[in-house]
Amino acid sequence: MAALCLLAAMTACNGHSDERLARPAEIDGDAITASLTGEPGDPLRGREVFASRDQGHCVLCHAIDGLEAEFQGNVGPALTGVGTRLTPGQIRLRIADAQMIWPQTLMPSYYRVSGLNQVAAEYQGEPALTARQIEDLVAYLSRLEN
Ligand code: HEC
Repeated sequence: MAALCLLAAMTACNGHSDERLARPAEIDGDAITASLTGEPGDPLRGREVFASRDQGHCVLCHAIDGLEAEFQGNVGPALTGVGTRLTPGQIRLRIADAQMIWPQTLMPSYYRVSGLNQVAAEYQGEPALTARQIEDLVAYLSRLEN
């Protein structure tokens, strides 16, 4: 019986559900103030996640002055200097669950924090980001100050 419970607990931990959920208690206003991994992210890896097609691919919708990427879209606002407009916690929540801030947004929720929101058909099955990738993005974007 004990072994069974342990197995069940492990399954829950490894499944894509609980592991990806930030608890609402971690949300403070329009920000998630604590790191999702408990550690600071790496801005260089964050830049990679931002531009890379098989990771965040944020450049599909967002441009950043000075970033080298083949294509930079303008569906979303340019993120040049975003570190002066938003705190790291605000950036973290916007990446984790943009739909919490803008219910009708085209921006996917990359790390769902509250229940199940609608995901536009074209993004269903898109890989969400890991906590580490989100922290790397937060580290990169919060350092963009001009
Ligand atoms: C399909 C398009 C799309 C993709 C992909 C996308 N975003 Fe967005 N993003 C938007 C839109 C649109 C907004 C503005 C919110 C709104 O009005 O819907 C936004 C807003 C933001 C904001 C807030 C900017 C501000 O000045 O308030 C941040 C930060 C952000 N996105 C980061 C990211 C990151 C990081 C990624 C990649 C992991 C990403 N976005 C992927 C469309 C997108």
